[in-house]
Amino acid sequence: MNPSDKPNLRDLRVSYELGELVEETAPASPYPLFEGWLHDALAHQLPEPNAATLATLGADGAPTVRTVLLKSIDERGFHFFTNYESRKAQEIEADPRGSMLFLWTNRQRQVGIRGVISKLARADAESYFASRPYGHQIGAWASQQSLVIPGREWLEEREAEMRARFPEGAVPCPPFWGGYALLPQEVEFWQGRVSRLHDRLLYRRDGDAWAISRMSP
Ligand SMILES: Cc1cc2nc3c(=O)[nH]c(=O)nc-3n(C[C@H](O)[C@H](O)[C@H](O)COP(=O)(O)O)c2cc1C
Repeated sequence: MNPSDKPNLRDLRVSYELGELVEETAPASPYPLFEGWLHDALAHQLPEPNAATLATLGADGAPTVRTVLLKSIDERGFHFFTNYESRKAQEIEADPRGSMLFLWTNRQRQVGIRGVISKLARADAESYFASRPYGHQIGAWASQQSLVIPGREWLEEREAEMRARFPEGAVPCPPFWGGYALLPQEVEFWQGRVSRLHDRLLYRRDGDAWAISRMSP
């Protein structure tokens, strides 16, 4: 396509007919369903199936979104790692409400999670950080995430400084880097269906159990 041509987005359309989501086979908790869909996305070799859009709220009430990578799930929620001085971290500290959205287009599925975000333990950060490749570890030290910097060269100089400071195999987890967990209050599963009559099942936390409702598409 010529870059000056405007894409005709109105005629881009997909018929959703890969699957269905019905109450009869929906588990009592959203966790096994989420894990099943994530494994399905992995099995279909979707690129970055653990990438999620994370929304947080600024002091003025305005939302900001960005992508993060889901790294594990447990009773504390859905885990991701980041810089604790970043914009998202500052927003989470001031208002822990957050949302995550997973989109698996090739499977015609999305999952939205709403809940409250809390910091993971230092030990979680240290064990995950130790498993990362050297370059990623150095990158975490070099980046003052979300700050304005003078230019690319400045960043590469900092990277070189950090490589000189920390040899491979001996990079400690930065004190300003760690994990968060989004503990879901609500999880909504969306499966595309024909004629735009999609399946939407909403799990809402109800004491120790989950209430399941079907939402209109
Ligand atoms: C595919 C993908 C995965 C990403 N994963 C992460 C991540 O796990 N943690 C992170 O801090 N930033 C990640 N980023 C970068 C963020 O989207 C974002 O640019 C950065 O965290 C700064 O966000 P903030 O200024 O809102 O805090 C990822 C970006 C992409 C495109």
